[in-house]
Amino acid sequence: APMLAVWAVLGYLLGSIPFGVVLTQALNLGDLRKIGSGNIGATNVLRTGNKAAAAATLILDGAKGAVAVLLARWLAAEDAAQLAGFTAFLGHCFPVWLRFHGGKGVATFLGLMLALYWPVGLVSCATWLAAAALSRISSVGALVAALLSTAWMLLFGRIEMTALCLALTLLIFWRHRANLDRLRAGTEPKIGKKT
Ligand code: G3P
Repeated sequence: APMLAVWAVLGYLLGSIPFGVVLTQALNLGDLRKIGSGNIGATNVLRTGNKAAAAATLILDGAKGAVAVLLARWLAAEDAAQLAGFTAFLGHCFPVWLRFHGGKGVATFLGLMLALYWPVGLVSCATWLAAAALSRISSVGALVAALLSTAWMLLFGRIEMTALCLALTLLIFWRHRANLDRLRAGTEPKIGKKT
């Protein structure tokens, strides 16, 4: 049990690195908090107009979730891996460095899913891409991918991972409540648009 607490903290610290903020500041792209949705994720970095910075944010925010899972699995066990993935997600959403005002966890979710069980990780990435491509709206991709992740885990027989997926899905929906309001109002912007 004390070891599990260590993995929870390590996962959180990894997840709390706000790569979108770090990159946009390093590249002088402006204050992410005052651009678009104000979110710290790749979708909002894209609204600065810098595609490379957005891609790097997506990959690094995903990688931190994957690294948390893989490190814990390598040095500890499967329960530690699930826990570290979960707390990495929480770290992204509630980073101590940003007074707990973090992101929506989508890239970190996809990264940790790839590391936890890559077949479902890949299918979730494909779901996210397909739903985002069809709707041209990033949040729609995220919400559909999150919603289906539990179903993919069940279909692939990974019953032991469904509770985690369900918890992550609930958190992702809650973090997207402003997006859900805009979707209902028909004002959610298309990918790459400034507002
Ligand atoms: O990854 C977050 C995405 O689903 C929505 O981002 O900036 O449009 O709120 P944003």
